[in-house]
Formats: sequence, C-alpha cells, structure tokens
Amino acid sequence: MVKCRPFLKWAGNKYQILEHIKAVLPHGNRLIEPFVGSGAVFLNIDYEEYLPADNNADLINLFLTLQGEGEPFMDYCRSFFTEETNSEGQYYELREEFNSTSNSKLKAGLFLYLNRHAYNGLCRYNSKGGFNTPFGLYSKPYFPEKEMRHFMERARRATFKVADFRDTMRSARRGDVLYCDPPYVPLSATSNFTSYSSGGFGREEQIELAELAKELAGRGVPVLISNHATEFTLNAYKTARIEQFDVQRFISCNGDKRGMAGEVLALFGIER
Ligand SMILES: C[S@@+](CC[C@H](N)C(=O)[O-])C[C@H]1O[C@@H](n2cnc3c(N)ncnc32)[C@H](O)[C@@H]1O
Repeated sequence: MVKCRPFLKWAGNKYQILEHIKAVLPHGNRLIEPFVGSGAVFLNIDYEEYLPADNNADLINLFLTLQGEGEPFMDYCRSFFTEETNSEGQYYELREEFNSTSNSKLKAGLFLYLNRHAYNGLCRYNSKGGFNTPFGLYSKPYFPEKEMRHFMERARRATFKVADFRDTMRSARRGDVLYCDPPYVPLSATSNFTSYSSGGFGREEQIELAELAKELAGRGVPVLISNHATEFTLNAYKTARIEQFDVQRFISCNGDKRGMAGEVLALFGIER
C-alpha cells in the first residue's frame, strides 16, 4: 500500500511514527480510533473496516462531507485557495464566516481553508467555541489534492463519528482493535496538567483511558495507546506491553522549539 500523508495539518499527528505503530498494532477486522485527528494511522494501515472518531465536530463534519460528496466537494474546497483569499483581511473575514455559518458544506470547506492558512496549522478555539487561530502568512498554501483522493478511497470502508473517547471505546466488540492517540501528557513534571488540560483532557481523562483499555483487554479486545514516555504514563500503563523510542518533533506548544521526545506505545490485551 502507498503511504500517504493526511490532508490536514494536525498537532500530534502520527505520520512520523507509523512504522513503529504498524509493527505492534494487532490484526483484527475493524480498526477503531477514538482520537482520530487527521487520521495518519487509519489512512495508512490496512483493515477491512474503520471506525474513526473524534470529539471535534468540525473535523468530523469535514470528513463526512468529503466522504459523501467526493470530487465536487474537492473542487468547492479548491475555490478557497486563491491569491485573493491568501491575505490577512480575507482570512479574518472567512474565519468569521466559519464561526457564524450553520451551512455544513461551507463550514467543512472553510475548515480546510483555515487549516492550511492559519498560523502553524493550529486548530484553536476560544471559550465560546469560536475558531481563533491567527493568520499564518504562507506564500502559497498547499492544496492537498492527492491526499484528499487517498482519503476518499480509504473512507469507503469507514464510519466516522463525533464522539467522546469513552463512548467510542464502550462500543468496541470482539474482532475490533483500538488505537488510542489522546492529547499528549505534559513532558516534564514542571509543566503541570492544568495548563495542558484546557482542551478538557487532563490527568483524570488519561487515567480513565488506561482503565478502559484494561477493561477492553479483559474482554478480548486489544488496545494500543501512544503518548509521551513519562513517569506518569509508564505508571498508568504498567500492565501493558511497553515499547519506547525517541522521535524528533516540535515539543513546545508555541511551535518554536524542536527536540527529542520519548514516545511510548502501550499494548493492552496481548499476552507477554
Ligand atoms: C494527538 S491528536 C490525534 C492525532 C492523530 N493520531 C493523527 O495522526 O492526526 C488527539 C485528538 O484527540 C481529540 N480529542 C481530545 N479530547 C477528546 C475526547 N475527550 N474524546 C475524543 N477525542 C478527543 C482531539 O480533537 C485530537 O484530534
């Protein structure tokens, strides 16, 4: 199978570590991803069926629209990638339109526009749920045609869901395999969970995820979780089979620092 990048820029996407994930993800009929994000894993690992889910409704709306409307929707999206729309003034107008429209096709097209024109491709919302990432100032934002085509092909076997990870995980049954890629835990003991958990994913959620993974493993459904390798995660995943490796990536949320970060892959449910 040809490897293909996701068509969206996405913080924490796993394209870079696909080979590590492929090596440990068990076989099964259906791959469930409760934190699908841009879908680097579901787009590149073969299963008969997929259940990609995320609690970001704008993301899943875009996936559903592209899956349902295909090529004509791609042409519609392309119409937002022009010299005129790549200006600060147009960006803020279109961002405003995105935040106020209830037209799901327009919202989906604008979500892709924002993803490719926003600062660092960041997907950030204010407390009222409005998209608020500033303009990115790229000379010619890339229109991901090849990547969207790959997505459309793969989406034929997928059922997308807007859902909280707990509901997605509870819907799993024998024959399924889960890959869980939650928001990262903070890297150091000094960066506390409270600042990181503004998106609603803190210490409690991380522990709940590990508990649910154990529960599913007990019912014969294997679960792979990825995260930063820290004292906290290694402790939370201590009943799992652990693989650790280093990866070169952005490690600061403002995107200006690069460094090596330790990753962990924790496999629940396969005998040691
Ligand atoms: C690290 S990213 C996943 C990246 C993905 N593996 C990829 O390759 O693009 C984490 C994802 O979890 C989602 N998320 C955060 N909290 C969630 C929750 N409570 N339930 C479901 N999804 C959640 C975010 O919207 C984000 O897309």
